[in-house]
Amino acid sequence: MNFGKIERRSFEIENTMKINGGIPLKGTIKTQGAKNAALPVMAVCLLLKGETLTLDNVPDLYDINTMIETLKSLGVEIEVKNSQVVFKVPDELKWEVSENLARKMRASSLVLGPLLANCGKVSLPLPGGCSIGSRPIDLHLKGLKQMGAYIEIQNGVVHASVKGKLRGRRIYLDFPSVGATENLMMAASLAQGETIIENIAREPEIDNLADTLRCIGVPVELEGTGGVRIQGIDKAHSGHDKVIPDRIEACTYILAGVMTNGHIKIEDIVPSHIDAILAKLEESGAKFSVKKNVIEIFPSKKKLHPVSIKTMPYPGFPTDSQPQMAAALSIAKGVSTIEESVFQARFLYAQELNRMGADIKISRDVAIIRGVDKLQGANVKASDLRAGAALIIAGLAAQGETIVDDMVHVWRGYEAIDKKLKSLGAQVELL
Ligand code: UD1
Repeated sequence: MNFGKIERRSFEIENTMKINGGIPLKGTIKTQGAKNAALPVMAVCLLLKGETLTLDNVPDLYDINTMIETLKSLGVEIEVKNSQVVFKVPDELKWEVSENLARKMRASSLVLGPLLANCGKVSLPLPGGCSIGSRPIDLHLKGLKQMGAYIEIQNGVVHASVKGKLRGRRIYLDFPSVGATENLMMAASLAQGETIIENIAREPEIDNLADTLRCIGVPVELEGTGGVRIQGIDKAHSGHDKVIPDRIEACTYILAGVMTNGHIKIEDIVPSHIDAILAKLEESGAKFSVKKNVIEIFPSKKKLHPVSIKTMPYPGFPTDSQPQMAAALSIAKGVSTIEESVFQARFLYAQELNRMGADIKISRDVAIIRGVDKLQGANVKASDLRAGAALIIAGLAAQGETIVDDMVHVWRGYEAIDKKLKSLGAQVELL
């Protein structure tokens, strides 16, 4: 069955999911637009003045709604028609972000670069803390300062301003941060002259951002060696672009299919975006085939073999898929390890999976996962978005009933996850 169009949620969020596990998933679903691509390309509208940006394939998520609210609060008029979102930007934008919107998600920091470049000033309360480890924005600020911005942090609020225009220059990122790359690419778009940023993040979401910048008239050249060259322009024009498929959502369903010994197809994937995960699945003996933009997962009589994984910036194994991979490996035959090298504290899900009978020990930044025969249903709590996804797929494979609380995190990144799972035959209910 094809899942088809999903209505935009109202975000009266149901905070609990009840799962009756042990049912192999069956059927076909389609990947949503990527949350992590949509958020920066939405912020691109802040580079416009009196022009319009139209984006297709925008997923219906809590974080997307937060970005919509943030952009509206800055004066952008927004129309949402299913997955198409139209941003009508006035001649004068507001430049102060409210505390309650900024603290809702880390990605609100993405308005910093474009607003500063367009309005010459911005004030942004520092995005709130996060349960996957400290997430500073020092690299964003350092790059903006190098482009001539004056930046002060007072009482937890970043105040940035620039006399005249930001100035294009060569910037070297100390770490290939996704958010810093995106912020600086947007800032460079309206800067005076050419900016070259070295050691940038090369996640597929960066290519999506480069395309959206090009569609409003910014010359952007991504270089194979981890750099980007941007010619600043005086005024950006209206544009129309689309959001790429969500590789992390796709991998979550792939792993749900593998864990439940199901037979599912996932449409609208970009195979090259999920190479690292497919390589590990192949190594672990999972049965699947990839044809063009569709992956098919087949049931298998054999348990997964254990594997060793280290999360890395793209094209390495994505940190956003490690909790779901840990769930799958928790019922493999043997001992697997996952080393987390991107975030400091991304193993909070382990104690919850252990409540379900998994055997995961954390030693500093490594999870040691001893495969058990079966997981059992339990009451568990999502500590963050991907931890929540891991618990849901574990619940689908477990015997008996699992209650996942704090689903508020899951709605940040998974469009209609309950409906998609039901269309694959899962017994799930929102409470
Ligand atoms: C983005 C993704 C997130 C993903 C992450 C890594 C979005 C909206 N979110 O987050 O889902 O897990 O990439 O793939 O796209 N760092 C600093 N200083 C900085 C910036 C980052 O020290 O100024 C550190 C962070 O603390 C973290 C690491 O760099 O340890 C990676 O962060 P970054 O790549 O910036 O991730 P985000 O853009 O926040």
